[in-house]
Formats: sequence, structure tokens, C-alpha cells
Amino acid sequence: METANLPALAEFSDAALAAFFAEVRAMFDREAAQAATPAATEALRVRWVGRKQGLLQQVSELVKRAPAEARKDVGQRFNALKREIEPRCEEFATAGPAHASQKLSAVPLDVTLPGIRPALGAEHPLIRTMNEIVGIFQRMGYSVGIGPEVESDYYNFEALNFPPNHPARDTQDTLVVAGQEHRPARDRLLLRTHTSPVQIRTMESQPPPLRIVIPGKVHRNDAADATHSPVFHQVEGLCVDKNITFSDLKGTLDHAMKELFGSSVKTRFFPSFFPFTEPSADVQISCIFCGGRGCRKCKNSGWIELLGCGMVHPAVFEAVRGRQPEYDPENISGFAFGMGVDRIAMMQHGIGDIGLLYSGDCRFLESFV
Ligand code: DAH
Repeated sequence: METANLPALAEFSDAALAAFFAEVRAMFDREAAQAATPAATEALRVRWVGRKQGLLQQVSELVKRAPAEARKDVGQRFNALKREIEPRCEEFATAGPAHASQKLSAVPLDVTLPGIRPALGAEHPLIRTMNEIVGIFQRMGYSVGIGPEVESDYYNFEALNFPPNHPARDTQDTLVVAGQEHRPARDRLLLRTHTSPVQIRTMESQPPPLRIVIPGKVHRNDAADATHSPVFHQVEGLCVDKNITFSDLKGTLDHAMKELFGSSVKTRFFPSFFPFTEPSADVQISCIFCGGRGCRKCKNSGWIELLGCGMVHPAVFEAVRGRQPEYDPENISGFAFGMGVDRIAMMQHGIGDIGLLYSGDCRFLESFV
């Protein structure tokens, strides 16, 4: 901004005064026209009407030096100048530079133009389903936990009774963090293949009784196709107390499936294998598409396999007893389960390709707003 000093005033004749005040006024106008930012308008205000060294203040000093016969004229001219400048400085301070609003108002308003529609965000269908599942268990008194996605070999496998080189590890191949050869095998880091390690972390940090669900993201070295993604989601469940039985497990999961898919859904339990549960089971629900009569979706069986579960293996309790002695398999028992969220979300919404859940394609996501 131009910051000239006041013009000189050599004498107090009418003509000299007129020229002086006209020049001061022109100076202010020029500077005001250049002040385009809030910082600049504030600087302008301080420079002109600032209490101590403001230019108006300096003009008023001149007024005081006027000879008696010119004093009235000078006073009037000064007051006129002040009435012009002061309010404009104040207006700037509150509303910003005047010429900016002039520019805006100079643009003709076309009310027929389409408006700018703000893009509405929405919960991702996966997160929505995950929250729905978690909510069902919360209403049964479960608390909610989380755990790390980068996990050690110990928590992901060993403490869950997958010994090193156990063939069950082959079903859960994953990405491992590079450059850890110097570490003991159990401390090496990997992307967790399931949410089950959080069972161990939870028991290590709190004694029984325990009822908890753990939602989260997991990873496997699976080639992507319509039903597989190297990243997917699970909800893990763990319930430990005195006298927990397989009937408690069946009742809990049957109730959860009815909450999730409707009260007419049936469940059945098939023997299965997981290293960290004994006995283990796969849970099937009656096909929600055909009601159990048999269709393409259930491969004509009338049933859809949805989750794994079982009674917590004593070896799992033993793994945490060093830190929490109360997990004594002689005194307590528990059940655990784990379900894939993606599959459930796909069934709920009729999504045929799991990749859509990870594509970030707004045309797909907008259909869930
Ligand atoms: N972690 C298993 C998997 O990802 C799922 C599972 C099965 C979790 C049985 C459990 C369970 O807690 O009891 O394949």
C-alpha cells in the first residue's frame, strides 16, 4: 500500500487550505482503494484514525497551529474531512473493503442458475452392518473392544494354539513386516489375519467374567475375486464366566442371527475345527433368499454358512494365566465366535462383488445414503 506522508501546508490562505484538504482526501481515497485484505484495511484504519500517530491526528495538530483569522475555516475543513474518513475506516473494520462488496454487487444475480448441492456423506455399508452386529451384542450386555491391525506372530497364532509350522496356519497366510529376521519368531509382526488375537489381549488385561465383541479389519494373502478380498472385516466375540456351556453359545448366536436377519431365520451348528476352540462349530443359517427351500444363492442346500465358533480351548486360557491367574480352565469356561462382516453386508444389500465395498466408487456408495 502507498504510505505517503501528509502534503506540505506552507500558508493558511483559502486556496492553500483547499488544496491541502483536497490532497489529503485524495490520498485517503487512493489508499482505501488499494486495501484489499482484512489485514490491509486494519493497517489503513490504524494509519488514519489511530489514536497516537494517526494521520488525522497529525492534521489536527496543524489546525492548532493556524493563525486566529484562519482557525474557523481550518476547523470546518478538518471536521468535514474527519466525518468522511472516520466512518469509512470503521465500516472497513467490520465489513471489509468497500470495493470488494461493490465488485460483488456489480455481478448480476441470476436466480435461474442451478444451486450448488452439498455432497452428503453417509455411513459406509460395511461400517453400518458392523455397527448393527455390535449393537445386537451390546443389547445382550457385551462391551466393545478393539486391537491392533499390525499384530505379532504370538497373538495372531501362537497364543491361539497355532504352534509354529502348524498346518492350520496355511489357511491364514498374510503379509508380514519385512526385516524382522533378527527377532524371535513370536515377536515378528504381521497384518492380523483375524480378530481372534484380541481375545488374548482382552483376557490379559482383565479377569473373568467377560463378555466382549471386537469389530475390526483383517488381512489375508487371498487373490481378489467376487467373494474374496485381501482386506476384510470381522466381528469377534468372547464370553467367559463360570459354567458357560455350549447351550449358551447356541442360544446367543441363534438370538443374534434372528436379530440380524429376522425372527424366522433358523440356525444349525456343524462340527468344525479351529485350534483355539474345542469343540468347534460352523454356524449355518436358513437361506434368507429362499427361506430354506433351496436356490442358487444357497447352492440348493437351503442353508448358508456364516460364522465360526466354539468353546474356548484350555490351551488359550493357559496362554493368559501368566498375567491373569483366574483364567483357570478347571474353574471357568467360555465360548468364542467370529463372523465376516463383508459377507453379511453383501447378503443384506444384495451386493454380488466384494470389491465394490473397497472401490470407493461414489455411484455405488451413494445408493446407501
Ligand atoms: N478366527 C476365525 C477365522 O478368522 C473365526 C473364528 C472361529 C473366531 C471360531 C472364533 C471362533 O472366535 O471361536 O477364521
